[in-house]
Amino acid sequence: MATNSTRPFGKTADGQPVTEYTLTNKNGVSLSVINYGGIITRLVTPDRSGVQEDIVLGYDSLAGYLKTTPYFGAIVGRYGNRIANGKFTLDGQTYSLAQNNNGQHLHGGVKGFDKVFWNIQEAGRGKLKLTYLSKDMEEGYPGNLNVEVTYELTDDNELKIAYTATTDKKTVVNLTHHSYFNLTGNVKRDILDHEAALYSDKFVPVTKVLIPTGELKDVAGTPFDFRKATAIGLRTNDKDQQLEFAGGYDHCWVLSSSDSIKHAATVYEPASGRVLDVYTTEPGIQFYCGNFLDGSITGKRGVVYKHRFGFCLETEHFPDSPNQKSFPSTELKPGEVYKTYTTYKFSVR
Ligand code: BGC
Repeated sequence: MATNSTRPFGKTADGQPVTEYTLTNKNGVSLSVINYGGIITRLVTPDRSGVQEDIVLGYDSLAGYLKTTPYFGAIVGRYGNRIANGKFTLDGQTYSLAQNNNGQHLHGGVKGFDKVFWNIQEAGRGKLKLTYLSKDMEEGYPGNLNVEVTYELTDDNELKIAYTATTDKKTVVNLTHHSYFNLTGNVKRDILDHEAALYSDKFVPVTKVLIPTGELKDVAGTPFDFRKATAIGLRTNDKDQQLEFAGGYDHCWVLSSSDSIKHAATVYEPASGRVLDVYTTEPGIQFYCGNFLDGSITGKRGVVYKHRFGFCLETEHFPDSPNQKSFPSTELKPGEVYKTYTTYKFSVR
Protein backbone atom coordinates (compact mmCIF):
# COMPACT_ATOMS: atom_id res chain seq x y z
CA MET A 1 0.00 0.00 0.00
CA ALA A 2 1.27 3.43 -0.87
CA THR A 3 1.70 6.10 1.79
CA ASN A 4 0.93 9.77 1.31
CA SER A 5 2.75 12.80 2.73
CA THR A 6 2.79 16.57 2.13
CA ARG A 7 5.24 19.47 2.49
CA PRO A 8 5.16 23.21 1.75
CA PHE A 9 6.60 24.03 -1.70
CA GLY A 10 6.93 27.83 -1.55
CA LYS A 11 4.57 30.66 -2.40
CA THR A 12 3.55 32.39 -5.62
CA ALA A 13 4.31 36.13 -6.14
CA ASP A 14 0.87 37.01 -4.72
CA GLY A 15 1.49 34.91 -1.61
CA GLN A 16 -0.50 31.78 -2.40
CA PRO A 17 1.09 28.76 -0.74
CA VAL A 18 1.90 25.74 -2.86
CA THR A 19 1.92 22.23 -1.38
CA GLU A 20 3.75 19.18 -2.60
CA TYR A 21 2.07 15.80 -2.14
CA THR A 22 4.14 12.63 -2.25
CA LEU A 23 2.85 9.12 -2.81
CA THR A 24 5.20 6.22 -2.06
CA ASN A 25 4.38 2.60 -2.86
CA LYS A 26 5.55 -0.59 -1.21
CA ASN A 27 8.54 -0.85 -3.58
CA GLY A 28 9.81 2.62 -2.67
CA VAL A 29 8.65 4.12 -5.97
CA SER A 30 7.46 7.65 -5.31
CA LEU A 31 5.63 10.40 -7.08
CA SER A 32 5.45 14.05 -6.00
CA VAL A 33 2.82 16.49 -7.27
CA ILE A 34 2.14 20.17 -6.54
CA ASN A 35 -1.20 21.94 -6.61
CA TYR A 36 0.23 24.52 -9.06
CA GLY A 37 -0.30 23.17 -12.59
CA GLY A 38 -0.85 19.67 -11.16
CA ILE A 39 2.87 19.37 -11.88
CA ILE A 40 4.69 16.10 -11.21
CA THR A 41 7.88 17.42 -9.62
CA ARG A 42 9.57 14.06 -8.93
CA LEU A 43 9.13 10.48 -10.00
CA VAL A 44 11.55 8.07 -8.37
CA THR A 45 11.94 4.52 -9.70
CA PRO A 46 14.59 1.79 -9.29
CA ASP A 47 17.17 0.86 -11.91
CA ARG A 48 17.96 -2.82 -12.51
CA SER A 49 20.14 -2.93 -9.37
CA GLY A 50 17.46 -1.33 -7.24
CA VAL A 51 18.97 2.17 -7.14
CA GLN A 52 16.12 4.65 -6.72
CA GLU A 53 16.52 7.78 -8.88
CA ASP A 54 14.39 10.57 -10.26
CA ILE A 55 13.33 10.06 -13.89
CA VAL A 56 11.60 13.36 -14.70
CA LEU A 57 12.89 16.85 -15.47
CA GLY A 58 11.87 19.80 -13.30
CA TYR A 59 13.05 22.31 -10.75
CA ASP A 60 14.15 22.04 -7.13
CA SER A 61 11.81 24.83 -6.08
CA LEU A 62 8.64 26.64 -7.11
CA ALA A 63 10.54 29.66 -8.52
CA GLY A 64 11.60 27.66 -11.59
CA TYR A 65 8.07 26.59 -12.39
CA LEU A 66 6.79 30.16 -12.02
CA LYS A 67 9.20 31.41 -14.69
CA THR A 68 8.58 30.26 -18.26
CA THR A 69 8.92 26.49 -18.20
CA PRO A 70 8.46 24.16 -21.16
CA TYR A 71 5.51 22.54 -19.33
CA PHE A 72 7.72 20.27 -17.18
CA GLY A 73 5.47 17.63 -15.56
CA ALA A 74 2.28 19.64 -15.96
CA ILE A 75 -1.35 18.93 -16.76
CA VAL A 76 -1.92 20.48 -20.18
CA GLY A 77 -5.30 21.89 -21.25
CA ARG A 78 -7.88 22.97 -22.16
CA TYR A 79 -6.40 21.87 -25.48
CA GLY A 80 -3.07 20.08 -25.41
CA ASN A 81 -0.96 20.66 -28.55
CA ARG A 82 -1.63 23.19 -31.33
CA ILE A 83 -4.69 24.82 -32.87
CA ALA A 84 -4.03 26.55 -36.21
CA ASN A 85 -3.95 30.36 -35.98
CA GLY A 86 -5.59 30.08 -32.56
CA LYS A 87 -9.05 29.84 -34.15
CA PHE A 88 -11.84 27.32 -34.35
CA THR A 89 -15.57 27.35 -35.06
CA LEU A 90 -18.38 25.64 -33.19
CA ASP A 91 -21.98 25.86 -34.42
CA GLY A 92 -21.10 28.79 -36.68
CA GLN A 93 -19.39 30.81 -33.96
CA THR A 94 -15.66 31.45 -34.28
CA TYR A 95 -13.56 31.47 -31.13
CA SER A 96 -10.17 33.20 -30.93
CA LEU A 97 -7.45 31.87 -28.69
CA ALA A 98 -3.98 33.13 -27.80
CA GLN A 99 -1.46 32.73 -30.63
CA ASN A 100 1.33 31.86 -28.22
CA ASN A 101 3.50 29.72 -30.51
CA ASN A 102 4.59 30.94 -33.93
CA GLY A 103 1.17 32.41 -34.64
CA GLN A 104 -0.48 29.16 -33.49
CA HIS A 105 -2.23 28.29 -30.23
CA LEU A 106 -0.25 25.90 -28.00
CA HIS A 107 -1.18 23.97 -24.85
CA GLY A 108 -4.22 25.98 -23.74
CA GLY A 109 -2.80 29.49 -24.12
CA VAL A 110 -1.01 32.05 -22.02
CA LYS A 111 -2.36 30.73 -18.73
CA GLY A 112 -3.26 27.14 -19.44
CA PHE A 113 -4.02 24.37 -16.96
CA ASP A 114 -0.27 24.10 -16.31
CA LYS A 115 -0.32 27.52 -14.59
CA VAL A 116 -3.48 27.40 -12.49
CA PHE A 117 -4.16 26.21 -8.96
CA TRP A 118 -5.69 22.77 -8.70
CA ASN A 119 -7.60 21.71 -5.65
CA ILE A 120 -5.97 18.48 -4.44
CA GLN A 121 -7.67 15.91 -2.24
CA GLU A 122 -6.18 12.68 -1.05
CA ALA A 123 -8.51 10.06 -2.43
CA GLY A 124 -7.23 7.12 -0.42
CA ARG A 125 -3.77 5.67 -0.14
CA GLY A 126 -1.75 6.10 -3.30
CA LYS A 127 -4.33 8.32 -4.94
CA LEU A 128 -4.77 12.07 -5.43
CA LYS A 129 -7.79 13.78 -6.93
CA LEU A 130 -7.14 17.17 -8.58
CA THR A 131 -10.05 19.39 -9.56
CA TYR A 132 -10.28 22.69 -11.40
CA LEU A 133 -13.12 24.82 -12.75
CA SER A 134 -12.13 26.49 -16.01
CA LYS A 135 -14.59 29.37 -16.39
CA ASP A 136 -16.58 30.16 -19.51
CA MET A 137 -14.29 31.99 -22.01
CA GLU A 138 -11.14 31.42 -19.94
CA GLU A 139 -8.31 31.69 -22.48
CA GLY A 140 -11.06 32.13 -25.09
CA TYR A 141 -12.68 28.69 -24.73
CA PRO A 142 -16.47 28.52 -24.36
CA GLY A 143 -18.22 26.79 -21.46
CA ASN A 144 -17.61 26.35 -17.76
CA LEU A 145 -15.49 23.21 -17.74
CA ASN A 146 -15.29 21.11 -14.58
CA VAL A 147 -12.10 19.08 -14.76
CA GLU A 148 -10.99 16.22 -12.55
CA VAL A 149 -7.63 14.48 -12.87
CA THR A 150 -6.64 11.58 -10.64
CA TYR A 151 -3.11 10.34 -10.16
CA GLU A 152 -2.81 6.86 -8.70
CA LEU A 153 0.47 5.12 -7.87
CA THR A 154 -0.04 1.37 -7.66
CA ASP A 155 2.08 -1.30 -6.02
CA ASP A 156 2.73 -2.62 -9.55
CA ASN A 157 4.77 0.54 -10.19
CA GLU A 158 2.16 2.15 -12.40
CA LEU A 159 1.11 5.77 -12.52
CA LYS A 160 -2.54 5.72 -13.57
CA ILE A 161 -3.99 9.02 -14.73
CA ALA A 162 -7.73 9.45 -15.26
CA TYR A 163 -9.13 12.64 -16.79
CA THR A 164 -12.79 13.64 -16.53
CA ALA A 165 -14.51 16.81 -17.71
CA THR A 166 -18.02 18.17 -18.14
CA THR A 167 -19.19 21.44 -19.67
CA ASP A 168 -22.29 23.65 -19.71
CA LYS A 169 -21.69 24.84 -23.32
CA LYS A 170 -20.31 23.06 -26.35
CA THR A 171 -16.51 23.30 -26.25
CA VAL A 172 -13.32 21.46 -27.24
CA VAL A 173 -11.18 19.48 -24.78
CA ASN A 174 -7.88 17.65 -25.17
CA LEU A 175 -6.11 17.02 -21.85
CA THR A 176 -2.68 15.53 -21.53
CA HIS A 177 0.32 15.10 -19.27
CA HIS A 178 3.68 16.71 -20.00
CA SER A 179 6.41 14.96 -17.99
CA TYR A 180 9.82 14.96 -19.62
CA PHE A 181 11.33 11.54 -18.90
CA ASN A 182 15.00 10.65 -18.77
CA LEU A 183 15.40 7.04 -17.69
CA THR A 184 19.17 7.27 -17.02
CA GLY A 185 18.23 8.31 -13.45
CA ASN A 186 18.85 11.81 -12.07
CA VAL A 187 19.38 12.96 -15.70
CA LYS A 188 22.92 11.82 -16.46
CA ARG A 189 22.96 12.51 -20.22
CA ASP A 190 20.66 13.04 -23.21
CA ILE A 191 17.99 10.54 -24.25
CA LEU A 192 19.45 9.56 -27.64
CA ASP A 193 20.51 6.07 -26.48
CA HIS A 194 17.06 5.28 -25.12
CA GLU A 195 15.33 2.69 -27.32
CA ALA A 196 11.77 3.61 -28.20
CA ALA A 197 8.93 1.54 -29.62
CA LEU A 198 5.69 3.19 -30.74
CA TYR A 199 2.93 0.71 -31.59
CA SER A 200 1.59 2.64 -34.53
CA ASP A 201 1.53 2.35 -38.34
CA LYS A 202 0.86 6.00 -39.09
CA PHE A 203 1.81 9.46 -37.90
CA VAL A 204 0.41 12.96 -38.40
CA PRO A 205 2.63 14.99 -40.79
CA VAL A 206 2.83 18.72 -40.06
CA THR A 207 3.65 21.99 -41.79
CA LYS A 208 6.58 24.25 -40.87
CA VAL A 209 4.56 25.70 -37.99
CA LEU A 210 3.79 22.18 -36.73
CA ILE A 211 0.13 22.19 -37.75
CA PRO A 212 -1.16 18.93 -39.32
CA THR A 213 -1.40 18.86 -43.10
CA GLY A 214 -4.55 16.74 -42.67
CA GLU A 215 -3.11 13.47 -43.97
CA LEU A 216 -2.08 10.45 -41.92
CA LYS A 217 1.13 8.99 -43.27
CA ASP A 218 2.45 5.41 -43.16
CA VAL A 219 5.54 5.15 -40.99
CA ALA A 220 6.95 2.34 -43.19
CA GLY A 221 10.18 3.38 -44.87
CA THR A 222 10.47 6.62 -42.85
CA PRO A 223 12.44 7.62 -39.72
CA PHE A 224 9.04 7.56 -37.99
CA ASP A 225 8.89 3.77 -38.02
CA PHE A 226 9.25 2.77 -34.37
CA ARG A 227 7.24 -0.43 -34.66
CA LYS A 228 10.45 -2.18 -33.61
CA ALA A 229 12.39 -0.64 -30.72
CA THR A 230 15.01 1.74 -32.11
CA ALA A 231 17.49 4.11 -30.46
CA ILE A 232 15.95 7.58 -30.49
CA GLY A 233 19.20 9.10 -31.77
CA LEU A 234 19.65 6.72 -34.69
CA ARG A 235 17.55 8.62 -37.25
CA THR A 236 16.58 11.90 -35.59
CA ASN A 237 19.13 13.86 -37.63
CA ASP A 238 18.20 12.17 -40.94
CA LYS A 239 17.53 14.36 -43.95
CA ASP A 240 13.76 14.34 -43.78
CA GLN A 241 11.45 17.31 -44.20
CA GLN A 242 9.27 16.35 -41.23
CA LEU A 243 12.28 16.07 -38.92
CA GLU A 244 13.64 19.36 -40.23
CA PHE A 245 10.35 21.19 -39.59
CA ALA A 246 10.25 20.05 -35.97
CA GLY A 247 13.99 19.92 -35.27
CA GLY A 248 13.63 16.17 -34.59
CA TYR A 249 10.77 14.06 -33.28
CA ASP A 250 7.82 16.20 -32.23
CA HIS A 251 4.90 14.45 -33.88
CA CYS A 252 1.69 12.65 -33.09
CA TRP A 253 1.52 8.92 -33.82
CA VAL A 254 -1.86 7.41 -34.64
CA LEU A 255 -3.26 4.74 -32.31
CA SER A 256 -6.45 2.78 -32.73
CA SER A 257 -9.42 5.11 -32.33
CA SER A 258 -11.27 2.59 -30.12
CA ASP A 259 -11.94 3.80 -26.58
CA SER A 260 -10.35 0.72 -25.06
CA ILE A 261 -6.98 0.97 -23.36
CA LYS A 262 -4.12 -0.04 -25.68
CA HIS A 263 -0.38 -0.38 -25.45
CA ALA A 264 1.02 2.74 -27.13
CA ALA A 265 4.75 2.86 -26.39
CA THR A 266 7.75 1.28 -24.67
CA VAL A 267 11.00 3.10 -23.93
CA TYR A 268 14.05 1.25 -22.58
CA GLU A 269 17.28 2.75 -21.30
CA PRO A 270 20.03 0.12 -21.72
CA ALA A 271 22.47 1.36 -19.07
CA SER A 272 20.03 1.61 -16.14
CA GLY A 273 17.69 -1.10 -17.42
CA ARG A 274 14.67 1.13 -16.79
CA VAL A 275 11.61 0.56 -18.95
CA LEU A 276 8.61 2.84 -19.38
CA ASP A 277 5.43 1.46 -20.95
CA VAL A 278 2.50 3.67 -21.90
CA TYR A 279 -1.10 2.53 -22.23
CA THR A 280 -3.95 4.82 -23.18
CA THR A 281 -7.53 5.15 -24.36
CA GLU A 282 -6.54 8.14 -26.52
CA PRO A 283 -6.32 7.97 -30.34
CA GLY A 284 -2.84 9.55 -30.50
CA ILE A 285 0.47 9.94 -28.75
CA GLN A 286 2.78 12.92 -29.23
CA PHE A 287 6.42 11.87 -29.00
CA TYR A 288 8.46 14.98 -28.30
CA CYS A 289 12.20 14.57 -27.79
CA GLY A 290 13.21 17.83 -26.13
CA ASN A 291 14.36 19.43 -29.40
CA PHE A 292 13.72 22.86 -27.94
CA LEU A 293 15.82 22.28 -24.81
CA ASP A 294 19.02 24.23 -25.39
CA GLY A 295 20.99 24.35 -22.14
CA SER A 296 19.36 27.56 -20.94
CA ILE A 297 17.50 25.79 -18.12
CA THR A 298 19.22 24.51 -14.99
CA GLY A 299 17.00 21.98 -13.32
CA LYS A 300 16.95 19.76 -10.24
CA ARG A 301 20.27 18.99 -8.58
CA GLY A 302 21.93 21.71 -10.72
CA VAL A 303 21.71 19.68 -13.93
CA VAL A 304 21.74 21.76 -17.13
CA TYR A 305 19.04 20.54 -19.51
CA LYS A 306 20.75 20.44 -22.86
CA HIS A 307 19.38 19.53 -26.28
CA ARG A 308 17.28 16.33 -26.09
CA PHE A 309 17.75 15.74 -22.38
CA GLY A 310 14.16 14.55 -21.98
CA PHE A 311 11.29 13.03 -23.96
CA CYS A 312 7.54 13.40 -23.53
CA LEU A 313 4.88 10.85 -24.39
CA GLU A 314 1.71 12.92 -24.45
CA THR A 315 -1.38 10.79 -24.95
CA GLU A 316 -4.00 12.90 -26.67
CA HIS A 317 -6.16 13.63 -29.68
CA PHE A 318 -4.38 14.83 -32.81
CA PRO A 319 -3.22 18.45 -33.00
CA ASP A 320 -5.64 20.95 -34.52
CA SER A 321 -8.57 18.51 -34.39
CA PRO A 322 -11.12 21.35 -33.99
CA ASN A 323 -10.21 22.45 -37.55
CA GLN A 324 -9.64 19.01 -39.10
CA LYS A 325 -12.98 17.41 -39.76
CA SER A 326 -11.43 14.03 -40.69
CA PHE A 327 -9.73 13.67 -37.27
CA PRO A 328 -11.50 12.12 -34.26
CA SER A 329 -13.59 14.85 -32.64
CA THR A 330 -12.51 16.79 -29.55
CA GLU A 331 -15.90 18.42 -29.05
CA LEU A 332 -17.65 18.08 -25.72
CA LYS A 333 -21.32 18.91 -25.33
CA PRO A 334 -23.35 19.62 -22.18
CA GLY A 335 -24.60 16.33 -20.73
CA GLU A 336 -21.61 14.36 -22.05
CA VAL A 337 -18.69 13.22 -19.90
CA TYR A 338 -15.13 13.44 -21.23
CA LYS A 339 -13.22 10.49 -19.80
CA THR A 340 -9.78 9.25 -20.77
CA TYR A 341 -7.20 7.03 -19.11
CA THR A 342 -3.44 6.77 -19.43
CA THR A 343 -1.06 4.48 -17.55
CA TYR A 344 2.71 4.94 -17.32
CA LYS A 345 4.24 1.68 -16.09
CA PHE A 346 7.79 1.49 -14.73
CA SER A 347 9.84 -1.71 -14.76
CA VAL A 348 13.38 -2.93 -15.47
CA ARG A 349 15.05 -5.33 -17.84
C1 BGC B 1 5.18 20.13 -28.19
C2 BGC B 1 6.41 20.88 -28.63
C3 BGC B 1 6.55 22.08 -27.72
C4 BGC B 1 6.67 21.62 -26.29
C5 BGC B 1 6.72 22.78 -25.37
C6 BGC B 1 5.36 19.72 -26.78
O1 BGC B 1 4.21 19.09 -26.33
O2 BGC B 1 4.96 19.02 -28.99
O3 BGC B 1 6.30 21.30 -29.96
O4 BGC B 1 7.65 22.85 -28.07
O5 BGC B 1 5.55 20.86 -25.97
O6 BGC B 1 7.64 22.58 -24.42
